[in-house]
Amino acid sequence: MAPAFVSSEGEEAAGPVGASFEVGPLSRNCTRASARLHLEVLGTEFLARGGERFLRLYHRAWCESPAGLALAAVDASGELAGVLLGTLEPAAHYRSMARRHGFGLALCLLGHALTHPRFAKELLVTRAVRYARGAVRVMARRPAPTRGTAPEEGPEEGPEGKEGEITHLMVAPSARGAGVGKALVHEALRAAEAAGIEQVVLVTRPELASGGFYLHLGWLPYGEVTSRSGEHFVRYKWSLRT
Ligand SMILES: CC(C)(COP(=O)(O)OP(=O)(O)OC[C@H]1O[C@@H](n2cnc3c(N)ncnc32)[C@H](O)[C@@H]1OP(=O)(O)O)[C@@H](O)C(=O)NCCC(=O)NCCS
Repeated sequence: MAPAFVSSEGEEAAGPVGASFEVGPLSRNCTRASARLHLEVLGTEFLARGGERFLRLYHRAWCESPAGLALAAVDASGELAGVLLGTLEPAAHYRSMARRHGFGLALCLLGHALTHPRFAKELLVTRAVRYARGAVRVMARRPAPTRGTAPEEGPEEGPEGKEGEITHLMVAPSARGAGVGKALVHEALRAAEAAGIEQVVLVTRPELASGGFYLHLGWLPYGEVTSRSGEHFVRYKWSLRT
């Protein structure tokens, strides 16, 4: 995907000048910075509590998945201003991540759990059985169950047609309010439209201010969902049907 240059006002610009930033694919070389940004911005998420090493591999796995959408906004000084993770083919993406990196990701989580007893307990109580079943399914090359409710498992084709999803959006606190989040979301929607996706969905935790952000951009709320791990989320969708 060719990088798009966007000014702080969200207008097309000739390049990253002044307060502008560049939106393009997240590079594998940036995963240390993107993992740190994830920890800083979404550090209370379960996956983020798996530690920086886990997050680094998680972001790398996202970059390497052919069906993954990993976007970065980089400011004029080369600093990472924001990251968006999503997928335009959820089932293929999660299969690819599990097959290529499932073992490494599991080792990182288990290693972190050994030194973080509270995290270990949560991992065991809320996810161990589900993750183990997923591993068996991947090894047996069976497809994932459809319409999963947990946000870290992607939905299959929905009633509105082919669905993509945005799973993580994070903007560095120092870069907020300059259009970085909006530019990342617009680029994801542009890629989704180009791929023939009919609807993009996402969930956010009700306690995060991001609900207001998505409403402001024109996303439609469509109910709430509780993941199999017991967390509550508000669902938003964006239709690309013409
Ligand atoms: C939510 C978040 C992604 C917004 O990113 P941002 O780069 O600061 O937002 P932008 O500057 O692109 O804002 C775009 C528009 O949304 C508006 N906006 C931004 N945050 C808003 C909010 N919380 N409520 C309502 N409107 C908001 C802006 O005023 C702007 O309006 P305009 O286009 O009319 O001028 C960022 O604050 C963030 O990373 N928050 C923490 C992590 C998070 O909640 N992630 C999403 C859940 S996965």
